[in-house]
Amino acid sequence: MKLQIVILAAGQGTRMFSSLPKVLHRLGGKPLLAHVLEAAASLDNSGIHAVIGHGAELVRQTFESHDFPFAGIGGPNWVRQEQQLGTGHAVQQAMPHVDADLVLVLSGDVPLVRPDTLRELVALAGPDKIALLTLETAHPEGLGRIVRGADGTVQAIVEERDADPQQKRISEVNSGIMVLPAKRLRQWLDRLDCDNAQREYYLTDVIAMARAENCPVRARKISDGMEAQGVNDQAQLAALERHYQMGKAEQLMAAGVRLRDPARVDIRGSLTTGRDVEIDVNVVFEGEVSLGDGVRIGPNCTIRDAGIAAGTRVLSGTSVEGAVIGADCNIGPMARLRPGTELAENVKIGNFVETKKAKIGRGSKANHLCYLGDVEVGENVNIGAGVIVCNYDGEKKHRTTIGDNVFVGSNSVLVAPVTLQDDSFVAAGSTVSSEVPAGHLAVGRSRQKNISRWKRPGKR
Ligand code: UD1
Ligand code: CA
Repeated sequence: MKLQIVILAAGQGTRMFSSLPKVLHRLGGKPLLAHVLEAAASLDNSGIHAVIGHGAELVRQTFESHDFPFAGIGGPNWVRQEQQLGTGHAVQQAMPHVDADLVLVLSGDVPLVRPDTLRELVALAGPDKIALLTLETAHPEGLGRIVRGADGTVQAIVEERDADPQQKRISEVNSGIMVLPAKRLRQWLDRLDCDNAQREYYLTDVIAMARAENCPVRARKISDGMEAQGVNDQAQLAALERHYQMGKAEQLMAAGVRLRDPARVDIRGSLTTGRDVEIDVNVVFEGEVSLGDGVRIGPNCTIRDAGIAAGTRVLSGTSVEGAVIGADCNIGPMARLRPGTELAENVKIGNFVETKKAKIGRGSKANHLCYLGDVEVGENVNIGAGVIVCNYDGEKKHRTTIGDNVFVGSNSVLVAPVTLQDDSFVAAGSTVSSEVPAGHLAVGRSRQKNISRWKRPGKR
């Protein structure tokens, strides 16, 4: 049977108290809607329609400008719901685009639903059968209650604001996820009204319509409450984030990673790890990160879009972004590696050293207080404390090239464009603005003068 998927994502998310459309709030570094789109795309389907309205342009742009799941394979079919008149009305906007036997309705704000659960749900539905995902919860407040008949079958969904006191006590609620036969869904949607407390066209009303026509509703109740948990406010988002992060931490530990505290690591993207990797507390990984065998990451580091090869240590408080780090390097504490940093093996980058577009050869060291931007550094170079590369003249960026075995004395300034050839030596405190030939000593500072019989200014 042909399946198409309709994702409801037009609502504002009033209770988020945010100007960002709700489905763009991030969980594990990705917009809520990206999680739902990923789950949808993993199902065997013949079309995905996303209904957008509130902040529609921003939602589209976000998915068209970032490499979210649809970047490569063409986006979902974006459907506009100009006015948010309810979930039933939202589905109705998508129906003219739907050409399928079954329609799976997903909520853009229920991000952690598992593809396996959805597959099981699809298998329960049919041309004359609805499948509904429900959950048992201790906190049914605000959600649609599942009303079952004496024989235990689902008869209706009653929204909180329309429920009587007895219905409010029902602890089984609607997840917002259901699979419906397309042909009959169209007829039911045509008959919806907004005669309810919220004056909205409720999708949930089709359940009672279906029952009135003897169309069975098969409910699948799930046990993991978080899986079908919606995001309606910041507290729910935070709870889901923790749940998601704990799942990631468990996966890492199952793969042999030593996490000092699984509750204090955040993975906002994908992290691949070798053997014997150790990660200390409060480390945030973003984008795509890979850690080779034996890599150790100290506490309080942020690592984004980086590859770190075997045996390297990253010490506390270090920030790494867009860098490729070779094997057996020592980075930090409190170093900042910015995009375009490429370190060969055995490189040392110490405290308060900032690198950007810096290619640094094997065995070279910059141990303290440096800025190295737009540079190429050879092997076994020693860059002293306080060395600054002046790569910017106020208009353009310029490059600095440093050969092998060069020694740059402390507190030197290298004014780019400039080249320090192999085996050259720069005296401490020099300002170097022209090429230093191989093997030469460059002294770029005024001579020291000592003045005799000098008197300190005295206090009057
Ligand atoms: C809905 C269900 C409720 C269920 C709950 C689970 C209805 C009437 N109620 O309630 O039974 O327990 O989800 O989370 O369906 N949306 C649109 N257009 C609209 C209105 C909503 O696209 O006009 C989207 C929202 O962006 C959201 C989803 O539909 O992604 C659910 O809407 P929301 O307003 O959050 O519904 P709930 O009140 O949570
Ligand atoms: Ca909701």
